[in-house]
Amino acid sequence: MSEETTSRYEGESIDESRRTFMKSTGVATATSAIGVGANTAAAEGGGDDIGGLIAEMSLERKVGQMTQVAIDDLGDGFGPDTEFNDHDDADTLGELFTDLHVGSVLNGGASGPTWDGEEFVAGLNRLQEYAVTTTEHGIPFLWGGDALHGNTLLDGCTSFPQRLNMGATRDVDLVEAAATHTGTEIAAMGGHWIFGPTVDVLRDMRWGRYFEGHSEDPMLLGELGRARARGFQQSDRVAATVKHFAGYGTPNTGKDRAHARTSMRDLRTRQLPAYARALEEAKTVMVNSGAVNGKPAHVSQWLLTQVLRERYEFDGVVLTDWDDFRRLISNHEYLPDMESGWRRAVKQGLEAGIDMHMCGGETAPTDFIETTIDLVESGEISEHRIDESVRRILELKRDLGLFDRPTVPEGEIGDLVGGARDVSERLAKESLVLLENEGDALPLEGSESLLLTGPGIEAGTENRFLMQHGGWTLGWQGIEDGDLTEDGPRPRQNTIAGELSDRLGERFTHVPTEFEAAPYASIYENFDNGFFDVTDDQEAAVVDAAGTADAVVVVLGEGPHNEGFGDRDKMRFPKAQRELVELIDEETADDVPVVGVILAGSPRGTADTFGHLDAILFAGQPGSDTGVAVTDALFGDYNPSGRLPFTWEANVGHVPLFYDDYPPRQSIGAADGMIQYEFGHGLSYTDWEYSGLSLSTDSVRDPSSTSTVTATVGVENAGERPGEHIVEVYNTEFYGSVLQPHRRLMGFERVALEPGESATVDVELDLATLEVVPGDVPGDRARVVEAGEYELSVGDETTTLTVENEASITDPEPVPGRYDIDGDGEEDFEDVMALYRRLKRRKWREKRGRGRDRDR
Ligand code: BGC
Repeated sequence: MSEETTSRYEGESIDESRRTFMKSTGVATATSAIGVGANTAAAEGGGDDIGGLIAEMSLERKVGQMTQVAIDDLGDGFGPDTEFNDHDDADTLGELFTDLHVGSVLNGGASGPTWDGEEFVAGLNRLQEYAVTTTEHGIPFLWGGDALHGNTLLDGCTSFPQRLNMGATRDVDLVEAAATHTGTEIAAMGGHWIFGPTVDVLRDMRWGRYFEGHSEDPMLLGELGRARARGFQQSDRVAATVKHFAGYGTPNTGKDRAHARTSMRDLRTRQLPAYARALEEAKTVMVNSGAVNGKPAHVSQWLLTQVLRERYEFDGVVLTDWDDFRRLISNHEYLPDMESGWRRAVKQGLEAGIDMHMCGGETAPTDFIETTIDLVESGEISEHRIDESVRRILELKRDLGLFDRPTVPEGEIGDLVGGARDVSERLAKESLVLLENEGDALPLEGSESLLLTGPGIEAGTENRFLMQHGGWTLGWQGIEDGDLTEDGPRPRQNTIAGELSDRLGERFTHVPTEFEAAPYASIYENFDNGFFDVTDDQEAAVVDAAGTADAVVVVLGEGPHNEGFGDRDKMRFPKAQRELVELIDEETADDVPVVGVILAGSPRGTADTFGHLDAILFAGQPGSDTGVAVTDALFGDYNPSGRLPFTWEANVGHVPLFYDDYPPRQSIGAADGMIQYEFGHGLSYTDWEYSGLSLSTDSVRDPSSTSTVTATVGVENAGERPGEHIVEVYNTEFYGSVLQPHRRLMGFERVALEPGESATVDVELDLATLEVVPGDVPGDRARVVEAGEYELSVGDETTTLTVENEASITDPEPVPGRYDIDGDGEEDFEDVMALYRRLKRRKWREKRGRGRDRDR
């Protein structure tokens, strides 16, 4: 095959024949696969003596453990004899273990070796059995992958709502329940490592990974990140990954893998705390592919050692992102594209604190292995440094029980795939955000004759349903890269069209418009995340149906996308969608409600289109149960309760605006025009009223010992429909030693009330949300809650919390490295001496200067 296909490397192409694995021939027969008897003392001891094992290992085998290799679509029956075609290093998968001694394999992009669950387990078991029985030390390998909104690697999977939807629910327990199911499935599939949660703070809708980020609020993000890590790891066979450490979510200019737009103060108060929260649970970390303050994160000793290891005391495995040592050359142009550049990349990465290198499409495993061995043999990296990483990797394998039980039963995955429907449906419902509802256009009566149109709906064109799932769903860019075949894999799913048709029967008219996914189109070819059109026939059908319909629902938005291919420079809807909405508005009578449902992983849409709609439901990418969730909301069987987890700017020119940025937001008088919907916006079919906000204590003497306060507020469902409501408590005013945001979220709680019912709701407030870095521009002092009076608000209800004394809650130390005077990465006695000498010299110069003045 000579066809070119686009690689995971943006903008580069690789030869298809190198990526296509030949189907396995003569692969080892299936094993019953429970507790394969390994052939070494190491395995027999259940990994008890990691130190002893390391002492027996050759340098080659140790470096092999630090190597993770991407394996691809392998097909049914894959096993040790299956050809490995990505690089020349190994001819078969088995050789990865026998010849290269690799410690881990991955299936990146939510594309497994096969879409079939049982084949997946059987294949991994075959490989694992081979690894533990034919290699010298019998060390099992770790399998890792991106199960980021459910175990979306298998045909028939439950695709939970995407991360942005999770943020809209504010339902930490439910989000954890979804993660728990995902972890259980990964373990049953024979896997061990989930490359999530993503804990990158969101600020820029132009970024192609916006849909992954949960929220722009650091506290909400941290809580959800921690809950998801905990959920994944409910299975003791599974490790979670906090990624991408740190600062990946604020790329300058909104382009993926760019350097971060941040400052030391911003990084320390708004970005690092969320990672730190999730690190309380997660066993591993993946590094930010971008750079922070001019230093690529993969070679930052400050981030990976001084902050992560020393300050956060994290002793788990730190993994690079995909080919990221290579990216120091190709993406960041930090090192020259020469052998010496590569060597420096590996050296600096290991010195900074990386334990394992993810060899994706571009890096041959031997490139990493041979360079590392050479660095050690030439004395540039100590073997002790290597042993430290190998220890962490082997301890992880031991802790996950891999030495005791390298393989898993094959019969468990079947019952799990497509499960947790109740969790998925509930999450999808809770994540719906009602943006507009003019004249109570929604809910619909249910007796209307209804026209459903727009691109985001199934029927006829097979790939329209991609819009409800987004990226990392049965493929990196969403479902086999958007190239669907008749019998291709599908998530378990219901669709908006299917559900409406079931409910309305004859009264339902369906005019789907054109949509093609744009998986590898660059921003220059497609800024809409999909190709959209309305044909003449479709237009005629819309005109025809709109004239007689009692209600029109138009599904708008964007197609699935991911990483750099998802970057865009537009916020408005694609032209075909804008024109479709205008046409419907023209063709419908004034009393016919026109409802927009937005399927998108970002704030898509601007006032010019919104003005033509009576009601707007931002559904995000709700996954498998989109149909049921949206239809229930349209007919009022579910009352929308989600709140925006981000700021919806009025147009792309105002990006990035985030709700907790420092004032002022923009030039005088422009403030109102810049925002379409504020962070936390979300309407309901009923009315909510608050009364009597009070605090468990009005005054805190020392926030380091009293770090939480309970706010209590009366909430009444003052309307006519039952509903759920998220009570949010914000700090809305404070004057301290540095700028303060207009609002910052301190706590939230979800309640469900019948019409006329009231409740007294307690919301636990985390005073760490008030921490700032005081002092002048360097932003290097310890994070503290400053003393003073803090106004707290729930809606229009306000009260005051007095903090009597300044104190640190999360970290009483100044910025790590502040006293590393000689810049060797350590804060030690040498630094004291260096500072002493520096001050002495300064004194001496001053004295000399004064002496000269006197002489004159
Ligand atoms: C992404 C990671 C992901 C990895 C493996 C990279 O391109 O940045 O988030 O875990 O690929 O698929």
